[in-house]
Amino acid sequence: MATLTVNVDHVATVRQARLDTEPDPVFAAGLAELAGADGITVHLREDRRHIQDRDVEVIRQTCKTRLNLEMAATEEMIAIALRIKPDMVSLVPEKREELTTEGGLDVVKHEADIKKATEALKAGGIYVNLFIDPSPAPIEAASRIGADGVELHTGTYANAPLGERRDVELGKIAAGASLAASLGLKVHAGHGLDYRNIEPVREIPEIEEFAIGFSIIARSVIVGMERAVAEMVELVR
Ligand code: PXP
Repeated sequence: MATLTVNVDHVATVRQARLDTEPDPVFAAGLAELAGADGITVHLREDRRHIQDRDVEVIRQTCKTRLNLEMAATEEMIAIALRIKPDMVSLVPEKREELTTEGGLDVVKHEADIKKATEALKAGGIYVNLFIDPSPAPIEAASRIGADGVELHTGTYANAPLGERRDVELGKIAAGASLAASLGLKVHAGHGLDYRNIEPVREIPEIEEFAIGFSIIARSVIVGMERAVAEMVELVR
């Protein structure tokens, strides 16, 4: 049975729109846990456009499940992770001008740097996950680097039109999941997943955990956080 970590970044996006104190991602994280989430994900970006350092610190103190910190493999972020000690770090590529993470980490090109970051985080007792495209080269590099797991980027699948193009992308995720698992990596998946497109991905047996944010937070504005999370928990399981 797969598990779900709920990304609460976009609760902070609404708060930052007014530079106010609400809505608070800390409350959203608590409600997500009460509704059955297996973990909470936050992305602390270099530009602090949504999640702030205080959010990570307070959620670390209040989180009853597991805290997954998404971050770039920079010295600043590694120091923060080693101080705050999330249960898991997901290393992601980051560009200032992007609306959201646009693709997987280029672990082949940056293998030495990502290995160094992975080793530092693992030495601090943190599970390290690499967010990568579902193709063989980065999966094999993640295994060489010694990551604990990979998060397969599902954004291309999610953005593809229904039909053959989407099926091709789904096939890449299934093949990637199988390769990663055969190399001893734990398989996570995420990006762009929603209440409809999750269903075929959920059938891939190697995927142990999904990281989902935008669709849950968007639905929660209409139906409430607990219902939005509970409905996704039901779908994932
Ligand atoms: N996984 C990673 C690595 C991400 O960067 C994001 C977006 O922050 C997600 C999962 C969640 O994506 P979405 O918000 O589209 O569900």
